[in-house]
Amino acid sequence: MGFFTMLWATLCLPFLFLCLKTAFSSSLHASSFSTTHLCSQEEAAALLQFKTSFSINSTVYNPSLCEIVYDIKANYSKTESWKEGIDCCSWDGVSCDNVTGHVINLDLSCNLLSGTFPSNSTLFLLKNLQSLNLAFNDFRLSKIPPEISQFTRLKHLDISSSQFSGQVPVEIAHLPKLVSLNLSNLFTFDSNFFDLDSSHKLILETTTLRNLVQNLSEVRELVLCGVNMGSVNPCFFMNLSSSLTTLYLLNTVLRGNFPNSILRFPNLKTFGLSGNENLTIDLPSSNWSSPLQHLNLSPMDCGGRLPESIGDLKSLQYLSLSCNLEGSIPASIDASRFWKLWYLDLSYNLLNGTMPPWIFTLPLLEILRLNHNQLEGQINQFQQNSLEELNLSNNRLQGSIPNSISNLVNLSYLDLSSNHFCDLLVSDMFSLQNLESIILSNNNLSLRDNVDANLTLPKLTYFDLSSCNLSEFPNFLRHSDGLQSLLLSKSSIHGNIPKWIWEKDDLRVLDLSHNNLGGKIPNYLPKSLSVLNLQGNNFDGTIPFWFTESCELENLNLHGNQMDGLLPRSLVNCSMLEVLDVGNNNINDTFPHWLESLPQLQVLVLRSNKFHGFVDSTKEGPSFPNLRILDLSSNYFVGALPIRYIENFNAMMDTHSDDSFPEYMTMSNGSYQYSLVVIIKGLEYELQGILTILTSIDLSENKFGGEIPDVIGKLNSLKGLNLSHNNLTGPISQSLGNLTNLEWLDLSSNELVGEIPDELLSLTQLSKLNLSNNHLVGRIPKGKQFNTFGNDSYEGNLRLCGFPLSKSCDGIGKLPSSFQEKDESWRFGWRVVALGYGCGVVFGLLMGYHVFRTGKPKWFVSLFDGRLSQSRRKTRKARRVVPRRS
Ligand SMILES: *[C@@H]1O[C@H](CO)[C@@H](O)[C@H](O)[C@H]1NC(C)=O
Ligand SMILES: *[C@@H]1O[C@H](CO)[C@@H](O)[C@H](O)[C@H]1NC(C)=O
Ligand SMILES: *[C@@H]1O[C@H](CO)[C@@H](O)[C@H](O)[C@H]1NC(C)=O
Ligand SMILES: *[C@@H]1O[C@H](CO)[C@@H](O)[C@H](O)[C@H]1NC(C)=O
Ligand SMILES: *[C@@H]1O[C@H](CO)[C@@H](O)[C@H](O)[C@H]1NC(C)=O
Ligand SMILES: *[C@@H]1O[C@H](CO)[C@@H](O)[C@H](O)[C@H]1NC(C)=O
Ligand SMILES: *[C@@H]1O[C@H](CO)[C@@H](O)[C@H](O)[C@H]1NC(C)=O
Ligand SMILES: *[C@@H]1O[C@H](CO)[C@@H](O)[C@H](O)[C@H]1NC(C)=O
Ligand SMILES: *[C@@H]1O[C@H](CO)[C@@H](O)[C@H](O)[C@H]1NC(C)=O
Repeated sequence: MGFFTMLWATLCLPFLFLCLKTAFSSSLHASSFSTTHLCSQEEAAALLQFKTSFSINSTVYNPSLCEIVYDIKANYSKTESWKEGIDCCSWDGVSCDNVTGHVINLDLSCNLLSGTFPSNSTLFLLKNLQSLNLAFNDFRLSKIPPEISQFTRLKHLDISSSQFSGQVPVEIAHLPKLVSLNLSNLFTFDSNFFDLDSSHKLILETTTLRNLVQNLSEVRELVLCGVNMGSVNPCFFMNLSSSLTTLYLLNTVLRGNFPNSILRFPNLKTFGLSGNENLTIDLPSSNWSSPLQHLNLSPMDCGGRLPESIGDLKSLQYLSLSCNLEGSIPASIDASRFWKLWYLDLSYNLLNGTMPPWIFTLPLLEILRLNHNQLEGQINQFQQNSLEELNLSNNRLQGSIPNSISNLVNLSYLDLSSNHFCDLLVSDMFSLQNLESIILSNNNLSLRDNVDANLTLPKLTYFDLSSCNLSEFPNFLRHSDGLQSLLLSKSSIHGNIPKWIWEKDDLRVLDLSHNNLGGKIPNYLPKSLSVLNLQGNNFDGTIPFWFTESCELENLNLHGNQMDGLLPRSLVNCSMLEVLDVGNNNINDTFPHWLESLPQLQVLVLRSNKFHGFVDSTKEGPSFPNLRILDLSSNYFVGALPIRYIENFNAMMDTHSDDSFPEYMTMSNGSYQYSLVVIIKGLEYELQGILTILTSIDLSENKFGGEIPDVIGKLNSLKGLNLSHNNLTGPISQSLGNLTNLEWLDLSSNELVGEIPDELLSLTQLSKLNLSNNHLVGRIPKGKQFNTFGNDSYEGNLRLCGFPLSKSCDGIGKLPSSFQEKDESWRFGWRVVALGYGCGVVFGLLMGYHVFRTGKPKWFVSLFDGRLSQSRRKTRKARRVVPRRS
């Protein structure tokens, strides 16, 4: 699944719920169950026949989703209770007209039905049906039967998330009494994520929509999330009945400009268009629909300013606009206008100026997200106490965090990271007993008064004060027994790690990287630790841990300390280990071939230690099955390149990842994003996220000898290969031409001989090549990206000739040598070639962020602004983002 969609789905969970639950289902529950008549034989038989045409499959939908959306208990099927001989009006999910006895309502939502939906289904015999709910079943991509038009009395139809596919039949427009229609088609694959990429299996064509809009004069609720409307002109929606109250069209592939007069419909209460990346809407500057309660345009494009008139929306409860807004937030809004607002999300815009005072007075506000804007100035005192989530991260806010933060007794999530806040009085947090997550990283923040204060934050699970100016440990955390993640990197903390941290047996993530901590690491690890990052400190001594078979470690990073001795052999017990980085220490050991059986290991960094000896595997068969990044540089390894390992690095072969939407490696529950120092194209980067598409081998600065083996051509997913500063002999293997994903290749400072093989011309992603200081001879291959490399790629090879070297190849080689020959790449010009070839990982890294921010990739501009990635932490659980009212 793509990065954009994943992020979108995570952020938009609350809106998606609106797609799934319409007012319809409540109207159904409201209908009377009491009966005076028994239901007819025919209708009972039709229902029983319908039941038997499906099997019950408890895995068709995630039961917890049904529980959240419909309040229906997991693994429970209403049709199980349907039995011959019992009045069908009393069956679960069935209700009848209390005068005629006809079945009028059928609610089989979340019924675990599985099977194709037959067009001759006996369901169509229930001619008096007024409402039908088949949401959350699995009809195995059946077509919606045109026979649906036989339900001439139908007022409510909900077949959302029931795996229908194909064109929506035009007959759906022949239901003249229809009041609410939900065809949403959001495929779910676990409780937190919607598989938006495989939505769009239902297609709504222009003709059908036109008929629908014309004929359904009673329609009030139209919910079509995830339905493919790529061919539809958004203007058609203008002809909907003026009694419309709900129009929800998330993730529908609509494009163009949506007419904003919809926002002036007199009865409109709920309106959402988000997730339509190519759709724009201009916010009206006046005459908004005054009953509007719920407006959701995130993320999409409604660029321009936020109009003052938004303040006219007196009924507004829910406002989410992450849509390229710029300029300031209107200051003049009277807070008494917005008094019903409980959800305000203006995150990921370009809003500037200060935070207007009315925001601090909204009496019912529970969720406030203004993160990722350019807001500046100080923040006011909070005059409400209703806030549960406050996210002002990634702005330019400054000053002290106001002491009225202590009013926010309901606050459970606080994120003020990446601003310029300067201090926080610890005692102001005394009353915030509900806090679960505190994220204050990347401020120049000092904690004022006593960091040893006897503060108890009993519900705290996540605490991130990275890149703040702490100097001491926040010892008040010792009372937070539920603490799971403690992130204090780059916080100028010195001294030893206090003992209480090692005693927190719930602790899952401990990141103390880049501080001045030192001494010996205690040999006791919290039992359930998944991530231990002590990178960039002064710890010395041997790595003391004894890992038992219950080891849950996924990421161990001790990079850049002064640890010595051997790698603990008990690491082999950590079967979940994905990342092991002990680079830049003084470890004196042989190659840890005993790690080759770890099934999850993806990243192994032993750089700059005193590892020595031979590297290759001692056995045949699979080894390091998932390894993607191997860095053994600057050690004392000897012997031939490890052919047997190379043959078996399956994760570096034939992986077809989608580079355009890279994903990051995170802890298995997604709550911590891994970082890693890598050398990409000769420059050292600390990657805030390790891309799952990054694959590289660095064996430089050792004493490897012998020839480059042909088998290396099997590793065709490699992005980077560095074999420089060894004692490699023989020619450059032609098989390197098979590494078509390679972006950087360094073979410099070896003893390589012969010509540069023309096969290297296939490396069309290559943007950095270093072959200097060898004994290469002859003509440099010409064309494609080879036209972009400079002299420094080849220097120290006295017998090379041709572009870019000044030495011409006259008399050398077989082919004409003038580089003015018109080959393909020259037509595009040097610059375009340079950008066109080799825009891989580094570009990709930036894309994730910028795709989201602007809706369109803008990676050219951002490559040079020095930011490598933005980490996003997903700490909110699905349960917490479900809107409670709407
Ligand atoms: C139940 O549904 C799942 C998911 O669609 C499918 O893999 C499985 O085969 C089904 N089981 C039966 C018994 O039909
Ligand atoms: C029958 O139902 C209607 C609404 O559906 C209700 O107003 C009426 O009171 C009911 N009559 C009886 C006898 O339950
Ligand atoms: C529906 O049609 C299929 C064949 O197309 C037939 O096997 C089945 O018996 C029919 N079902 C009913 C209820 O008529
Ligand atoms: C947006 O438009 C681009 C270019 O036409 C297309 O590749 C992309 O799939 C569209 N996105 C959506 C969600 O329709
Ligand atoms: C805010 O942004 C607008 C354009 O987006 C600009 O004209 C204005 O000067 C900016 N204001 C401040 C205070 O930066
Ligand atoms: C600190 O708080 C703990 C737990 O609430 C309590 O047991 C202890 O007595 C307090 N210590 C002081 C010095 O107030
Ligand atoms: C590694 O340890 C061995 C024996 O303990 C020693 O002989 C050798 O010099 C050490 N290697 C380095 C590079 O310090
Ligand atoms: C490289 O590719 C060529 C042509 O596809 C193939 O014949 C050869 O076996 C490959 N070499 C390696 C080492 O994979
Ligand atoms: C490099 O390799 C050659 C032959 O393969 C060998 O004679 C020489 O000693 C090696 N040099 C070093 C520094 O290991």
